[in-house]
Amino acid sequence: MPSISDAELIQAWTQVLDLSDMTTGQSVTVLTSSETNRQTMRCAIIAAGLKGLVVNRLDLQPTNGGLSLSRDPLAYVGTTPLTGNRAAMAILKESDLVLDLMTLLFSPEQHEILASGGRILLAVEPPEVLVRLLPTLQDRERVLAASAVLRAARTMHVVSDAGTDMQCALGDFPILEEYGFCDRPGRWDHWPSGFLATWSNEGSANGVIVLDRGDILLPHKSYIRDPITCTIRNGYVTDISGGLDADLLKSYMDSFRDPEAYALSHVGWGLQDRAHWSVMGFYDSENTIGMDPRAVAGNFLWSTGPNNEAGGTRDTACHIDIPMRNCTVMLDGRTVVEKGRVI
Ligand SMILES: [Fe+2]
Repeated sequence: MPSISDAELIQAWTQVLDLSDMTTGQSVTVLTSSETNRQTMRCAIIAAGLKGLVVNRLDLQPTNGGLSLSRDPLAYVGTTPLTGNRAAMAILKESDLVLDLMTLLFSPEQHEILASGGRILLAVEPPEVLVRLLPTLQDRERVLAASAVLRAARTMHVVSDAGTDMQCALGDFPILEEYGFCDRPGRWDHWPSGFLATWSNEGSANGVIVLDRGDILLPHKSYIRDPITCTIRNGYVTDISGGLDADLLKSYMDSFRDPEAYALSHVGWGLQDRAHWSVMGFYDSENTIGMDPRAVAGNFLWSTGPNNEAGGTRDTACHIDIPMRNCTVMLDGRTVVEKGRVI
């Protein structure tokens, strides 16, 4: 039973298409697969049609289902339905905007679409989450203001009362500014969002990150019950210790049989006041990818695994996103998040 009316969701799509500067006659391709939310797809197609856009739908086959331990599309970063799919690439590269309602994940093909001047907007959270976290121009201003600070920084230092004390060097990789719409050609974004990330310079991260009770693991979508201590040496998590939660995390990561799974990936912080920490229990875990904790204002979000989406060479299939509360994040000694509060 949908909890949002089609009218509300069509209005929301209209706002996102307006913010994305789409004008009459431009082409939109709606990318779908077996798990695509039907209401989201229906309302996207209606909103694009009402705006006078040329609308196509491309339905692709799901991938990695037999390899992944989870149905979360971000749990297994492998080949995509575009790998070797010249026909699909032709329509996507010719589209002004691709609405990704299937989670295409980062891939060489995605880079190729963006490089040819297309825009890609990912939107796979449940309709009510899309509407609650509908992006605004203010979201962009906040993300871009913080981004200017991050862009100038060469070191990140994160501490917490729980025992976190980790430093890494920055500057070798681009900055990912997620504010929820694609206002220029070649841009990828994700509705809903509202956070910043970059990738630590290869081999530079050292220290310890202590995941505290209540911090969240994704794709597990669970609140940690006992602290997990992650020791980090030269860019890799070299030890994971604690109680049951530590054992579960380690066992899951070990299942990929890939040492690169333990590399540090993106680091950043949340800036979205309409995202909430407390919602993980309210949605069916197979229907959400957990954008609320990823974007919640004042989190410290770090991850393990690939950096190929940022131009690096690591393409391991294992990717864990870890939003943490109550951390202090400093850039070149300047505090940008203090004990979980955006400065
Ligand atoms: Fe991530």
